[in-house]
Amino acid sequence: MNLPNLKEARVRSDKKVEYLENDNNIKKMFDGKKYFLKTYGCQMNVHDSEEIRKYLELLGFSETDTLEDSDIVVLNTCAIRENAHDKVFGYLGRCKHLKKDKKDLIVAIGGCMSQEENVVNEIKTKHPYVDIVFGTHNINEFPKLVMNATGIQDIEVYSCEGNVFENVLYSRDSKIKAWVNIMYGCDKFCTYCIVPYTRGKQRSRKMDKILKEVQELKNNGYKEITLLGQNVNAYAKDLNDKTTFAMLLEECAKIGIERIRFVTSHPWDFTDEMIDIIAKYDNIMPYIHLPLQAGSSKILKLMGRRYTKEEYIELFNKIKTRIPNVAITTDIIVGFPNETEEEFNETLDVVNKCKYDGAYTFIYSPREGTPAALMNDSIDLKTKEERLYKLNEIINKYSKEANEKLVGKIVKVLIEDVSEKDKEKVFGYTDTMKLVNVIGGSDKIGEIVDVKITDAKSFSLDGEVL
Ligand code: SAH
Ligand code: SF4
Ligand code: F3S
Repeated sequence: MNLPNLKEARVRSDKKVEYLENDNNIKKMFDGKKYFLKTYGCQMNVHDSEEIRKYLELLGFSETDTLEDSDIVVLNTCAIRENAHDKVFGYLGRCKHLKKDKKDLIVAIGGCMSQEENVVNEIKTKHPYVDIVFGTHNINEFPKLVMNATGIQDIEVYSCEGNVFENVLYSRDSKIKAWVNIMYGCDKFCTYCIVPYTRGKQRSRKMDKILKEVQELKNNGYKEITLLGQNVNAYAKDLNDKTTFAMLLEECAKIGIERIRFVTSHPWDFTDEMIDIIAKYDNIMPYIHLPLQAGSSKILKLMGRRYTKEEYIELFNKIKTRIPNVAITTDIIVGFPNETEEEFNETLDVVNKCKYDGAYTFIYSPREGTPAALMNDSIDLKTKEERLYKLNEIINKYSKEANEKLVGKIVKVLIEDVSEKDKEKVFGYTDTMKLVNVIGGSDKIGEIVDVKITDAKSFSLDGEVL
């Protein structure tokens, strides 16, 4: 996709945010004012919002979860499917309305939609009340844009050939578990996917910088880290310094943080070395998210996924046999252009063979600028919806079965917080990333405890602290 309207590439540097930390006057600028921050999309965006939140706090804002009470609205957007787009423009409607009475309200849009040229043009022409548009490559400039907001629309979005940021400031959502970005962007260019366009080419952080961050998180009492990347196991392929993702995993494990996770692994980059390291270290969690996308080798080829149905199943079985008690989840797209009934049945066949612990399933959504969006599609939406329904039924059956196997067993759970639905309970996740609602653990928040599983549902477990 061409981005002719976007500005020249910029190299990220860690200097740009210092002015915020050191200048107390900046804090006073928005003291007593409130921010409303809405995050869409993947973990990458959730983590980016932790950076945005830090800047808002440094500027003096405090958080509100009511849009109408806010003095600044920040929408951190996702572009992966059409419905994400619709939701954001829904929010913008409310902002426009609100601005009629509240002239000083600042409306800011960031995230992956901001990196789409057609979206930027739409905001320019139809939504003049939006004050700030910032992209995924210049989040560090967000505070400057807020301080300089004048009521005239300011669009600061860059295409990216740049380096990576270090020493980024975050206001993390949790004191127990933390995201750690190990790379930005993606070089895979799956034909349906917009991420390589909105996030740019793959740029890995240097291993020593990542390890320093992990060590600091451990020193600050964090129990769990999740190494983040769109294609996490392609880590360092762009660095040409012989490091690999398996090496990074091992070094993180040696730091001794209690739990290490990583998302998302691409089957094509899944090495034997990785499997060995995951199996070797108790603090690397036996949980792998391994997107299948489709079961038909023909569709996989059209998707540009670089593996066949047989190769995927072989890898799946290898992981299952070599990592004891591993749980594997997946992503599946139904209704890729011209997917036949037989081809869809191949997806069901893989699901029946792999019996996943869980899956995120989607109807294919054409994204402007991607190769797949140019393919003619003879399959109607109703057929696609029926396939999704059928797939979900099977997926849910297997997740329930996987959960039922745990009833009566004792598992380790990192207790995170009081349950929103039932204040008498707390919740946490098992090593294998299963959500457990726990009775009797309110004094155990932040600890890894033995929990006896008493009941299983499709998407969660019940248990009690031993
Ligand atoms: N980097 C990860 C995840 C990318 S986005 C990976 O490679 O697996 C998360 C999921 O959204 C993808 O795994 C895919 O299943 C789904 N997705 C991506 N583009 C899509 C599209 N155009 N339509 C429907 N689903 C899509
Ligand atoms: Fe998108 Fe494929 Fe990259 Fe995942 S690996 S982000 S699906 S291009
Ligand atoms: Fe969405 Fe961007 Fe993530 S498109 S899924 S927020 S990388």
